[in-house]
Amino acid sequence: AGVFTYDPGFTSTASCDSTITYIDGEKGVLLHRGYPISQLASQSHYLEVCYLLLYGELPSAAQLEDFESTITRHTMLHEQMQYFFRGFRRDAHPMATMVGVVGAMSAFYHDSTDINDPKQREIASHRLIAKMPTIAAWAYKYNLGQPFIYPRNDLDYASNFLHMCFAVPAEEYHVNPIIARAMDRIFTLHADHEQNASTSTVRLASSSGANPFACIAAGIACLWGPAHGGANQACLEMLKEIGTPDRIPEYIARAKDKNDPFRLMGFGHRVYKNFDPRAMVMKQSADEILDLLGVHNNPILATAKELEQQALADPYFAEKKLFPNVDFYSGVILEAMGFPTSMFTPIFALSRTVGWISQWKEQLEDPAHKIGRPRQLYLGATERDYVDIEDR
Ligand code: CMC
Repeated sequence: AGVFTYDPGFTSTASCDSTITYIDGEKGVLLHRGYPISQLASQSHYLEVCYLLLYGELPSAAQLEDFESTITRHTMLHEQMQYFFRGFRRDAHPMATMVGVVGAMSAFYHDSTDINDPKQREIASHRLIAKMPTIAAWAYKYNLGQPFIYPRNDLDYASNFLHMCFAVPAEEYHVNPIIARAMDRIFTLHADHEQNASTSTVRLASSSGANPFACIAAGIACLWGPAHGGANQACLEMLKEIGTPDRIPEYIARAKDKNDPFRLMGFGHRVYKNFDPRAMVMKQSADEILDLLGVHNNPILATAKELEQQALADPYFAEKKLFPNVDFYSGVILEAMGFPTSMFTPIFALSRTVGWISQWKEQLEDPAHKIGRPRQLYLGATERDYVDIEDR
């Protein structure tokens, strides 16, 4: 019956070839189209990185202006989509709302469900990148019971998102440029990460010819899990539960205990075995932003730093090569910006949308692409005869 490789968790299987993102897990290297993440995070900005991921090269000034204006033109949602939000329970997790609303986009934008037309594929990409902040912000506003705030096209991408999250009609809201810059950096640090679980989900969904909105909804659903994007929420909740640095040893002992399912959230990575370059930028960013916002002696940041130090000094974590990942410090920054923990993973999802859609596009442009169809190692019963119910 043929010879298959057995590789649960795909620890040694390459599912595709790609020219988008390169990771060297031993050296802590992350490159998008060849450019190091640290340079993109400090010198570029999110929409420029979006262009780079989608089209393969950094844009010229004219190309960037054109791209930014296209994305800005697509930020509104069809007015009728508000009914989708309103159909959810008031306390719905915004990730649940996002899975539903993004999936529902295929019912509103029939034209860009035509995946065989490159122009429609491009419009679908633009629509998703443009509308995701509106969708995430509205999921949040719905939780709060506040009116949906429409996008403002005079603002940059990050500022517009902050505006839709925090403005209310009753008073004027000014986006703090320090917060907007930090927000943009968080988007950039999450933009793509090659064949992680949610991206692989998007590619597998797309391999059947499913429409782009359905594929991205599948990616959002996968990202939600605490072993993946849900770790940023879980990590901040853990840091709050720890509360003060004196309780850290107790949690480290629990993480090491094989009979306790508890893991240090924001720690460990399938690919990075020395450090996660995104976590390095995030840690520095946490210091900077809290400083700039005048937040001194933040107890959560202090607990995070102490936890990192104690874990790294512990032979268990050293032997297993467990280091802080991108989710370890992001929550500290997001909380300082005023986001509740339930919004952390939606922010990851909106940032990763460009990565998902770039990989989706790359897959469809590959003339050799075929449906993803893993095999299995069957361990069930051998063939046997059906038994009538009265004889069982
Ligand atoms: N705390 C304690 N022990 C851990 C941890 C942790 N956070 N992570 C891994 N281990 C141990 C694990 O118990 C196992 O031990 P043993 O070999 O004795 O059975 C060993 O390290 C290897 O772990 P694994 O689960 O086989 O490794 P994996 O590559 O399958 O999983 C991971 C990677 C990220 C899912 C895992 O490290 C984890 O659960 N971390 C916590 C959740 C987290 O922070 N996720 C975010 C990942 S980065 C951003 C993203 O992908 O969204």
